[in-house]
Amino acid sequence: MLKIYKVKNYDEMSKKAATLIAAQVIANPDSVLGLATGSTPVGTYEYLSKWYKESYLDINFEDVKVVNLDEYKGLTRDNDQSYYYFMQDNLFKNINIKAENTHIPNGLEDDEAKACSEYEDIITSLGGVDLQLLGIGGNGHIGFNEPGEVFVKDCHCIELAPETIEANSRFFANKEEVPKKAYTMGIGNIMKAKKIVLLASGKAKANAIKQLLSGKITAQVPASVLQLHHDVTVIADEEALSAVEI
Ligand code: GLP
Repeated sequence: MLKIYKVKNYDEMSKKAATLIAAQVIANPDSVLGLATGSTPVGTYEYLSKWYKESYLDINFEDVKVVNLDEYKGLTRDNDQSYYYFMQDNLFKNINIKAENTHIPNGLEDDEAKACSEYEDIITSLGGVDLQLLGIGGNGHIGFNEPGEVFVKDCHCIELAPETIEANSRFFANKEEVPKKAYTMGIGNIMKAKKIVLLASGKAKANAIKQLLSGKITAQVPASVLQLHHDVTVIADEEALSAVEI
């Protein structure tokens, strides 16, 4: 089942997403959260950090486990564009999560099969994901599952699509600095989550959101597979929903 929250703007989207995550953690303090990176969830993490600090909501991350969606291959952890760095900077350093309970694919592992099988083992050992947060690429990618001929089920190493390199180059000095490969959870890992919350803000996501909500299910638009999940909440702002009628 797919539920849509139409919100005014990025801030409202962020607040709504943070509310759902906080509710998950309050109800189940040992939840496994699947988390995402990119500019979309930054505001969500800001709200969670703020609410944790202000403490009136009493959100305790002590027993929470986090398993992130993806990581660039080849970036060191202290590179401010690595997703390891992003998660520390935007969330983990602000809350009382234990370092040993946070997991991100090992971007420094050169052996692709090894990096992926180790990450699969981590997800399995955690017993699966309770709530998976997702952004969406302009081309419909989720995690780093790029458009392709087939849905790839398990964690894998992906060659980034040219449009993803282009889109993400805004965070790097230039396009050449963007890693060409990344490790990502597969579509199967994402689909196994008990709940999925997908966020989208801005006109650049309007077409991807249209395909997700009403397009045909195809590996050319990886997010379209979410139509088959039993518990998806899409929180999107007016611009991201501008190509669909709701
Ligand atoms: C990135 C990430 C995705 C993210 C997407 C959109 O490259 N791998 O997890 O959802 O692309 O990014 P943004 O939120 O910056 O638009």
